[in-house]
Amino acid sequence: HLVVDNYVDEKAWRECVGKAAHILRAEELVAFPTETVYGLGANGLSTRAVKKIFEVKGRPSDNPLILHIGSLAQLHPLIRAPLSFHAERLIEHFWPGPLTLIFPASDRVPPVVTAGLDTVAVRMPAHPLAREIIAEADVPIAAPSANRSGKPSPTRAEHVSEDLDGRVAAIIDGGSTGYGLESTVVDVSDGERPPRILRPGGITEEELEEALGLSMVVEDRERSKQNVRAPGMKYRHYSPDTNVKLVDGPSKDMQARIDEARKRGEKVAAAITSERVEKISADEVLILGDASDLQTISSHLYNHLRAVDKMDVDVLFVQTFTEKGLGKAIMNRLYKAAHS
Ligand code: TXA
Ligand code: MG
Repeated sequence: HLVVDNYVDEKAWRECVGKAAHILRAEELVAFPTETVYGLGANGLSTRAVKKIFEVKGRPSDNPLILHIGSLAQLHPLIRAPLSFHAERLIEHFWPGPLTLIFPASDRVPPVVTAGLDTVAVRMPAHPLAREIIAEADVPIAAPSANRSGKPSPTRAEHVSEDLDGRVAAIIDGGSTGYGLESTVVDVSDGERPPRILRPGGITEEELEEALGLSMVVEDRERSKQNVRAPGMKYRHYSPDTNVKLVDGPSKDMQARIDEARKRGEKVAAAITSERVEKISADEVLILGDASDLQTISSHLYNHLRAVDKMDVDVLFVQTFTEKGLGKAIMNRLYKAAHS
């Protein structure tokens, strides 16, 4: 495969954007950075190209994809009804950025993208490379996260090559992504009803409510702790191979869990905030960041979840967070990472 480093100079940047756009127009796959995580892109209007995404990722075909656009002019042909009042406000406030909106789909959107639903997910990313590639390709780009299905989403080009090396035409290396967690998904497909959050992410519930001046309905079907206790294949997203266990409460509770596990002969890693470093002793310690800095914690989370699989440990204990602001998205991903 081809790794293009975009930070060399202006000419290299141009070449890299041109190459990516060329590959996309040829109905092949390109992995590229966005401000959330790396995406695995294909021409979103080509059934043939989009099918390759499902093959390469090992993604179930009933899981629909997000179409990435560069301008509002690209939105209108994809959706059926005029924009609802709420949709307009959310677009005004948060695009370009880590917000995906669900609209009624037009006939132009191939069923392979929507998994046969009558709605379509659309996002206008803010990352300059993503924007240029979409503009140059001049088509909406279908792109899920560029990981093998079930692995944590990639926040660095190296993560993409770990999972997809040799299976995509190019990987565009734009360094680390900013948010580190996927976009917030909000359903605005029914103009009569208030928008619903389907997946928490980079844009928080609080920010959405402030922009709209109303309370949000959160309908994250995968969120609850119950699902972690009885994980079907459906919920095995974002999972490292290592057993992940979430631990509430003060650091002495976590230390007790670590000690018990070690007594059983297990090797133990602990993912904790920097405030706890002095208080926790384990075989491996992953520092998530300062407890007050959820942004840093979310931007490094997937990197830690990938790193732990390369360590010689049997179990990872992760400290939990209050489900406010970004804490909501962080906990959502941690629930999914935790095996029963
Ligand atoms: O930040 C992101 O959103 C990243 C970057 C690459 O843009 N993409 C991403 O895509 O996370 P993916 O495929 O990993 O997640 C897309 C989510 C899935 O949970 C999918 O079920 C949901 O969006 N989705 C897509 N179309 C939908 C629809 N029509 N109705 C409801 N949910 C939909
Ligand atoms: Mg994904």
